[in-house]
Amino acid sequence: MQNKNSSKSLALVYVWSKKIRFFHWLNVLCVFLLIAIGLIILNSKALGVTSDGKILLKTCHVLVGYAFCINLLCRVLVGFFGTGFEKWGATLAFNKGFASEFKKYRLGKTKHYKGHNPAGKLMITAMFLALSVQMVSGLVIAGTDIYYPPLGGYFKEQVAIDSTQIKLIKPYSKVNIDAEKYQAMRDLRAPFITAHVYSFYLLLLLIPLHVAGVIFTERKEKSAITSAMINGYKTLPKD
Ligand code: HEM
Repeated sequence: MQNKNSSKSLALVYVWSKKIRFFHWLNVLCVFLLIAIGLIILNSKALGVTSDGKILLKTCHVLVGYAFCINLLCRVLVGFFGTGFEKWGATLAFNKGFASEFKKYRLGKTKHYKGHNPAGKLMITAMFLALSVQMVSGLVIAGTDIYYPPLGGYFKEQVAIDSTQIKLIKPYSKVNIDAEKYQAMRDLRAPFITAHVYSFYLLLLLIPLHVAGVIFTERKEKSAITSAMINGYKTLPKD
């Protein structure tokens, strides 16, 4: 009886659009694959991976990286031009009044949220920052390491001895490479590699925290937030 009454006072509320759900699950898939391949690249010496094997791993990592970047860039555009909970104001922790929103959440004064709760907004802000660092640093090192777009062509020209023979320049080969210019390119790339690796460690911390936060919120708010990321609907009190 009690259950019947309480289910009567609940309503299904559409919160996550198809675009948001598609972005979320494609992002999960890409990040999972990028971490898995990234871990092998990071430990390639210990695993005895050959040079050709490394080039193949990096190529696969970069190809998945492109899907990840396009998906992330589409989400950025949807944040600016979308509607309702797609907008950045409803997603990130920078909206006006966020501090008092967070205080109310901490004190337990607001029990339910149509979109993200303030803790969720903070987590998503941190994850978007880490993902953006991965995107920018990844695209730079893809150009300097295996000469892949969008910057690979530019870096090939930078390190070439003979710029009419650009085609001869291949990953891990010294043919048509000016040693000094190559070293300058490696120096330029160093901070991007550092950013890529530290942001990767940050993601290894944020991802389990995000999952723990979802489980905690699911148990506390009981508004079906996990299935909402599949079917779009949260279960919220009618009032
Ligand atoms: C969530 C996203 C990403 C994660 C977690 C990730 C993780 C990693 C990790 C752990 C490594 C090994 C680092 C090392 O050995 O020094 C790596 C290397 C690399 N990543 Fe990513 N990555 C991501 C996105 C991207 C993107 C978007 C691109 C480019 C499209 C990219 C391009 C590369 C390249 C070229 C390397 C080889 C660097 C090298 O060791 O020479 N990554 N990544």
